[in-house]
Amino acid sequence: MAERIRKVGVVGLGTMGAGIAQVSVQAGHETIGHEISLDLAERGRATIDHYLTRAVEKGRLAQADKDAAIARLTLTTELADLADCDLVIEAVLEELPLKREVFAELDRVTRPEAVLATNTSALSVAEIAAATERPERVVGIHFFNPAPVLPLVEIVRAPESSDDAVRAAYEWAEGAGKQPVNCNDTPGFIVNRILIPLLNDCVRVLDEAAVTPEDLDKAMTNGAGWPMGPCALVDLVGIDVHVHASEALHDKLGEERMAPPERLLRLQREGRLGRKTGHGFFEYGS
Ligand code: 3HC
Repeated sequence: MAERIRKVGVVGLGTMGAGIAQVSVQAGHETIGHEISLDLAERGRATIDHYLTRAVEKGRLAQADKDAAIARLTLTTELADLADCDLVIEAVLEELPLKREVFAELDRVTRPEAVLATNTSALSVAEIAAATERPERVVGIHFFNPAPVLPLVEIVRAPESSDDAVRAAYEWAEGAGKQPVNCNDTPGFIVNRILIPLLNDCVRVLDEAAVTPEDLDKAMTNGAGWPMGPCALVDLVGIDVHVHASEALHDKLGEERMAPPERLLRLQREGRLGRKTGHGFFEYGS
């Protein structure tokens, strides 16, 4: 039995971090959410409140359970406040130097037995872990967007991750009602290794075959059974997040299909980042 995880820290309360914090509080864990400003932290809490309220309205969650879940979340702008967490999950921007800075600080402030996890999509867990003095306590816990809805969590073992840390992360995810899978610290882990080049192929088809995003999405949902079309999915994930993951995979594996298509780079330059900016392949109301 791996060390039992009671208290959880989540660093970064953007789309993924807020979703992860929601999973954690709904699973009954005292959870501390960290952001660089209280405004951003409150925005993360508001997102969680919004989805829990919807669940109450739909009769899937009792009001008392929602209130209890929200009460388990506290907010901070100080990493030092994560000192007594058993597990910290980092979900900040996909920038290696930033993640390494966060991990170096977490290493200083948390207990030596704490498990430190990254939600990185495509960076190397080992390179992040190397910023600490305890790479054996560092793993990847990779959620899928929207984190509270999609069951899969990839538990990523880096070369120096200990069996105990991997098991603790796996058991925590399972206890939170997720479907964890074990994987290694290889580029894109399992899903992104396959999904990112596939989505890039879909985007290239738009220009190569001169089809509209609407027709491409209609084709893939109705003809291949995808729950949402590829353009809607890239808009959900975020054009910038997808481009970054593509570049990271392309850098490491060198396959042409992994390089981000020009059309995505153009959307990124125009600030059309998908749902989060209200514009991407499609337009979204506020
Ligand atoms: N947080 C919490 N709950 C959310 C949510 C969020 N961010 N987004 C949606 N939900 C809930 C809604 O409240 C809704 O519940 P309700 O029906 O009780 O109101 C439920 O999820 C379903 O949402 P919708 O009714 O809006 O829509 P759908 O039934 O069409 O489902 C979907 C939406 C779950 C997104 C589904 O289309 C889907 O599974 N799409 C594929 C998503 C996917 O492939 N994600 C992986 C991306 S890759 C990735 O994340 C890796 C990263 O590293 C890049």
